[in-house]
Amino acid sequence: MMWEPFTEAARRVIVLAQEAAQKYGGRSLDTQHILLGLLEIDEGPLLPLFEARDLSVDSYREKLAREKTDSKEPAGTEEFVFTPDAKRLIEAAFERARDWGTNYIGPEHLVAAIERLPESNAAKYLRELGFDLAEVGSAMRVQGLAARTTPLRSHMHEHRMSQLPHLSEENVGLDPIETLQRWLLDAGSARETEPAAMALSTVDEHGQSSSRMVLLRGFDERGLIFFTHYLSRKGAELSRNNRAALLFWWGGLRRQVRIEGTVEPISDEESDAYFASRPREHQLSAWASEQSEPLESRSALEARFEDYRARFEGETVPRPHSWGGYRLQPQRVEFWQGRDNRLHDRLEFTKSGTSWRLQRLSP
Ligand SMILES: Cc1cc2nc3c(=O)[nH]c(=O)nc-3n(C[C@H](O)[C@H](O)[C@H](O)COP(=O)(O)O)c2cc1C
Repeated sequence: MMWEPFTEAARRVIVLAQEAAQKYGGRSLDTQHILLGLLEIDEGPLLPLFEARDLSVDSYREKLAREKTDSKEPAGTEEFVFTPDAKRLIEAAFERARDWGTNYIGPEHLVAAIERLPESNAAKYLRELGFDLAEVGSAMRVQGLAARTTPLRSHMHEHRMSQLPHLSEENVGLDPIETLQRWLLDAGSARETEPAAMALSTVDEHGQSSSRMVLLRGFDERGLIFFTHYLSRKGAELSRNNRAALLFWWGGLRRQVRIEGTVEPISDEESDAYFASRPREHQLSAWASEQSEPLESRSALEARFEDYRARFEGETVPRPHSWGGYRLQPQRVEFWQGRDNRLHDRLEFTKSGTSWRLQRLSP
């Protein structure tokens, strides 16, 4: 399964939208159902704007009930059919997250995405109520950035550590990948600045180790994926010695994950697919940078960027062969949860054949 960027609140919005779709639209899930979800979640970012105008969510429910569309989908289908606008809204929420430099999708990204879809039913309704979509978008931006810069972390530090979740043999999950996914989601919900950032350590031919941050871009039972330049320092070190380590630290949750294993490049098809999904400027910068090589000046880099912009004008930017993904296949994964009196929890999974052995380590 791939890394799930939605915060718990955003996932709750989608569940509420599904319920609304079932109630008011058969199984067809459209932007107006997402809008209702955004109004119904606890402490949703849109509600204060509604309340400031003395608007009630009930009147929106009544409107949806009046306009109830008959289901066109065959009875018994379990799948919800997202309308093209609803799909575009989710995509626009991803764009918002990218614009604001956040690495998760929260309800504020979904609200702000409505501005990008002025013809959608959600946008029409907000306009009918007298909202200026650009103003709603910028209010969300302020909330999104505030949440990013004053993350739950500071609030968590006020809590006693005993109020933090404990890590035990019972709740750690059956394998480390399942637990890692849960911890990544928790880090996203806790508004850690870069929940998917991890330090990657490699070793050179003299045994000298070096570390740098990379972003986790996907993972499943086969391992953790990150993207980089194959000819960079890390790429050169990995080609000689493919044993490497990854490290996550989520300060607000007082959690650390240490991972060790072997690294292999992913398939060209997987790298192509990911490269194609990147913003054009990022694709161009992959061409412009000879990562880790000395550079005579900043302007030289910018000139290379502009050269590639001109070279690929009007064309799809192809993936440079020297840029792509690696997958670290874990052999050892340790979950560390900070606890009172330095009596921290440490649970270590070690791969043995195809299964995982679990043991507790002293803090
Ligand atoms: C939060 C963060 C995320 C980063 N993500 C990546 C990444 O996904 N891929 C990458 O090549 N470099 C990434 N970098 C830059 C690397 O840390 C590093 O500077 C670069 O890869 C060159 O490393 P090297 O010379 O050891 O190969 C990131 C840096 C930070 C601070």
